[in-house]
Amino acid sequence: MPTAPPFDRPGPELAQELARHAERATGVFGPGGAWRRFFAPGRANLMGAHLDYNGGPVMPTTVDRGTFFAIRLRPDRRVRFASQLESEQADFDLSNLPAQSTGRWFDYPLGALREFCSPGRATGELTGFEVLFGGNLPIGAGLSSSASICVGFAMALDIVMGVGRGPAGWVADALAAERGFVGVQCGIMDPYSIGHGRGGQLLWLDCLDRSFEHVPLDAKRVVVAVADSGVRRELASGAFNERVAQCEAARRCLAGPASDLLGREPRFLREVPAEVAEAEVPRLEPVLARRARHVFSELDRTLAARQALLAGDLAGFGGHMTQAHSSLRLDFEVSTPELDLLVKAATEVPGVLGSRLTGAGFGGCTVILLERGAEGDLTRHLQQEYRRATGREPALGFFAGDAGPREIEG
Ligand code: GLA
Repeated sequence: MPTAPPFDRPGPELAQELARHAERATGVFGPGGAWRRFFAPGRANLMGAHLDYNGGPVMPTTVDRGTFFAIRLRPDRRVRFASQLESEQADFDLSNLPAQSTGRWFDYPLGALREFCSPGRATGELTGFEVLFGGNLPIGAGLSSSASICVGFAMALDIVMGVGRGPAGWVADALAAERGFVGVQCGIMDPYSIGHGRGGQLLWLDCLDRSFEHVPLDAKRVVVAVADSGVRRELASGAFNERVAQCEAARRCLAGPASDLLGREPRFLREVPAEVAEAEVPRLEPVLARRARHVFSELDRTLAARQALLAGDLAGFGGHMTQAHSSLRLDFEVSTPELDLLVKAATEVPGVLGSRLTGAGFGGCTVILLERGAEGDLTRHLQQEYRRATGREPALGFFAGDAGPREIEG
């Protein structure tokens, strides 16, 4: 397995930011014991858009911005949540946690806490605690702030309570919290990419059997940039769940002919044999045909992109990213005019290898893969084009990889 390059160690800035975060926690909760500090990154997905819940492969990478946690134990069973970004605080009794989601900002960590305490877990008699959430990851921008808070909080609880479940347990709790408690039918990509992320690597995750490996992304040659359109749409608000339902409807329509070949029903669109897809997709209802067409073409592109990356062909890899965006726009219909503009403008810049929307779509961010040294040209061109068309500035960030969720000491 390739080793992670040295930039995946916490830089001095991160340690300082977490130290300031702990000071803020004292300001919020008052003096008391020492704070333990934790960090969980966000993620950008480069290939395999909307494939995770279709059983396909995905290629995300962690980004070096994310969620901060300052946590300290209490001698009683009281749990107090506060956020650097929200004025509302939450106060619970560990023996009587809400059974239903509340529609408030703290549903995500509350879901992770409920999973952590669920019956049958060897967690013993837990003690109460107080925690301040914060961070430097844009929220709702397609960088998976929700999985970052869920995985990171599951990790913080695991370590502070001394249970020892490890990354696989954090990922499982995060997934159960989002799907079960919050009620977003998210795929497995986000918690996996954050829980198992490594600096300077892409995660190759096969969502069919959940096997994964790390594929190096040459950090000396390329940089990952994220451009934020500033347009937000709530993931939980239905458009994402609608795409999940449409893919499931297409799978059901293709299940008959696919079963004849497979000898069993396909569990995901990924398992539908290519010859069945070719013959049957054009006969589906037009919306379902478009959704299925994206899934099958993205499967081919993602496999080809992996081959390109392993062969050192970064331009080839980037080309697949840009083609993926066209498919997301035309067949999956999750893009917006702002995202299309950002992708088009980015790909006009020399040194840019590829660009597409990242996350679920419907607004949020694009991800750009570029050669080192092209950052200045990209910034100028994107700002100029975006301002000309919308009158606004797009926020643009350049990211190193990140080592994954961890306690930050010192
Ligand atoms: C959202 C979901 C992910 C994945 C992407 C699309 O970010 O949370 O599971 O489905 O959309 O690739």
